Parts: sequence; C-alpha cells; structure tokens
Amino acid sequence: MRHLQGDALAPERVEEKVLVPMLMAAAEQPGYGRICVERRDDGAFIGWVSLVPRVPDGGPMYGWVRGAVGAPVVELGYRVVHEAWGMGLATEAAGAAVEHALTTLGASTVVATTMAVNAGSRRVLERLGFTLAGVRFLQWDEPNPGWEQGEAEYVLGVRPV
Ligand SMILES: CC(C)(COP(=O)(O)OP(=O)(O)OC[C@H]1O[C@@H](n2cnc3c(N)ncnc32)[C@H](O)[C@@H]1OP(=O)(O)O)[C@@H](O)C(=O)NCCC(=O)NCCS
Repeated sequence: MRHLQGDALAPERVEEKVLVPMLMAAAEQPGYGRICVERRDDGAFIGWVSLVPRVPDGGPMYGWVRGAVGAPVVELGYRVVHEAWGMGLATEAAGAAVEHALTTLGASTVVATTMAVNAGSRRVLERLGFTLAGVRFLQWDEPNPGWEQGEAEYVLGVRPV
C-alpha cells in the first residue's frame, strides 16, 4: 500500500466500501472492472487486474473521468498478494488484461499511472510494451513517501490527447 492512496480497509468495511461498488460497476459495464487472478494449478487467490474505460481531458490521467462501454481508452490497474511477488504474475495477468482490452473491449489505447518511485509497477508496464508518456506532479492531501518524484503516466497504443 505504500505506493497507493488510502489505507487497507478492515475486513468488515470491505463489503460496503469495495465489494458493492465493484459489483455494481461490473454489472453496468460488463467486461470491465476488477478481474480476479487465480493460480492456475490450485485456484488460489493471487490478486486482481482492473480495466476502466476513461475519457481523456488533457489533465493528469489520475483524474480522467469514467467513460462508457466501448470507449477507445481503457485504464489498467493491478495488484498481486505479497507472497506471490517476483514470479512474473503481474506481468502475465496484466498482459492478459491488455489483450482483452484491445480485442474483446475494442480499445485502441491502454493507459496506466503509477508513482514514479514504484519500480516494480513501472517494470511491469515496460515489459508489456507501454511507453512513458510523461511524469506529472500532483498535490495530495496525504502524500505517500516519494510523491515528490511524481506520477509516471504510461500509454500503449494510439496516444490519447
Ligand atoms: C508492482 C507489482 C504489481 C509487481 O508484481 P509482480 O508479480 O511482483 O511483478 P512481476 O514478477 O511480473 O515482475 C515484473 C518486473 O518487475 C520487476 N520488479 C518487481 N518488483 C520490483 C521491485 N520492487 N523493484 C524493482 N523491480 C521489481 C521484476 O524483476 C520484473 O522485471 P524483470 O523481468 O526485468 O526482472 C506488485 O509488487 C504489487 O502488487 N505491488 C503492490 C500494488 C501496486 O503497487 N500496484 C501497482 C499500482 S500502480
């Protein structure tokens, strides 16, 4: 969580704060949302990837509004449980999500934002062929350590405005 906004939620708050909005978004925009990542041999929970349609507005990608089903730009996100880090799983899962976005969802561009200091996340994007589009310096109410190095914005495909 050190590179992410917000705190880890207590389990009893997850249903209200995370699960319900997540399921509602998935129902409204089938094919997008959070996708569970499971280990192939035993189905163990490994993490998730997310795909959100976005509308570029010239400002920081972090603030782009949610788009409609079929939007040309889709934002990628991912998290892997700590025990499974360093095994290539984020790259494998995010790569499958990118493929899904570019084929099934019909996107022409996939974007992703990470803290510039998040070396692992940047490497995942670079291995998937994303290009660094720029680094933005944002103001945060509760900044994470390393915030002063900015947010790295990555693009794969046709570059949005
Ligand atoms: C970032 C994260 C998704 C990487 O997951 P992962 O499954 O360990 O990544 P992979 O094993 O696919 O590694 C991909 C590349 O990143 C490198 N990498 C992974 N963690 C790294 C780290 N902490 N520092 C530097 N490089 C790292 C790997 O060595 C690999 O590069 P290589 O093939 O050149 O050796 C995982 O650490 C995570 O979930 N972190 C917490 C949540 C988060 O930061 N999500 C992204 C928010 S933008």
